[in-house]
Amino acid sequence: MNWWQGKRVLITGASDGIGQSISWELDQREVEELVLVARDQRRLSETARRCSVATRIEPVDLSNMEQVRDLLERLHDTSIDVLINNAGSGIGGAFQSQDDDALLEMMHLNCDAVVLLSRELLPSMLEKREGGILFVGSMAGWAGGPGLCAYSATKGFVNRFAEGLRWELAGSGVRICLLAPGVTRTSFFRSAGIDEKDLRAGSLSSQQVARAAVYCIERDRAVVVPGLWNRMLLAVQGWVPRALVGLVSRRMFARVLAGQKRKN
Ligand SMILES: NC(=O)c1ccc[n+]([C@@H]2O[C@H](COP(=O)([O-])OP(=O)(O)OC[C@H]3O[C@@H](n4cnc5c(N)ncnc54)[C@H](OP(=O)(O)O)[C@@H]3O)[C@@H](O)[C@H]2O)c1
Repeated sequence: MNWWQGKRVLITGASDGIGQSISWELDQREVEELVLVARDQRRLSETARRCSVATRIEPVDLSNMEQVRDLLERLHDTSIDVLINNAGSGIGGAFQSQDDDALLEMMHLNCDAVVLLSRELLPSMLEKREGGILFVGSMAGWAGGPGLCAYSATKGFVNRFAEGLRWELAGSGVRICLLAPGVTRTSFFRSAGIDEKDLRAGSLSSQQVARAAVYCIERDRAVVVPGLWNRMLLAVQGWVPRALVGLVSRRMFARVLAGQKRKN
């Protein structure tokens, strides 16, 4: 049986990268409708153009809570069966060099919008005892990333939030799942001001990560970390002393900081 059949799925960050690939992956699963959310209307239309199922485009800046509330208002009479909390951004470089407003915007997008959308769209899922929420956290959420500290912290929030909510809603019929990708080849790093080649080990394509995302919720997995290399890295992280994780993390991310200095 196809779990997705007849479901309306809202995907944030559907105009690019992992979210766009998830949209196209779900297009092949006979969903009822895809509600595509991001800021760039033109790129959302491109995502929709390649879909054969019904689509609805919602251009919204999710770092702006007023716009998030307006979106929820517009969706008032629309039942969303599955929410994919994917949109997110990062800011690379030394923490002291980062801009206050940009940091707050990132935190609103990566954390506040995720909480608000989940809270408001959950009741109808709980009432039907069906559906689910997929959180796109990150492996970065399990270790502080020098050069990406605040970003890693927002993803730590997402990772823990998903875990807690899954435990809280156990037995409710609503699936709460966490996808925690490692480095994925998307526009993410360019937008974060990071040279992608500074963080290349084990990187996956957005299509590979999207397939893992769909699998995660389809099979109701608590956590899926796409890629064998990433799963090995995570397993090792659990065994070794934390100080060693810090040392390796500093070495890995030293290149991010050095790359920033090269640019400045
Ligand atoms: N790439 C990686 O290595 C990696 C690793 C681990 C986790 N992740 C996570 O995966 C998720 C997707 O990232 P990605 O790699 O696919 O990045 P991406 O290619 O940069 O795509 C980000 C998506 O989020 C949307 N977005 C950004 N700011 C937004 C805002 N203020 N309001 C609404 N939408 C916004 C973008 O669309 P618009 O610009 O049109 O708004 C775009 O559709 C993020 O949560 C990221 O933290 C990525």
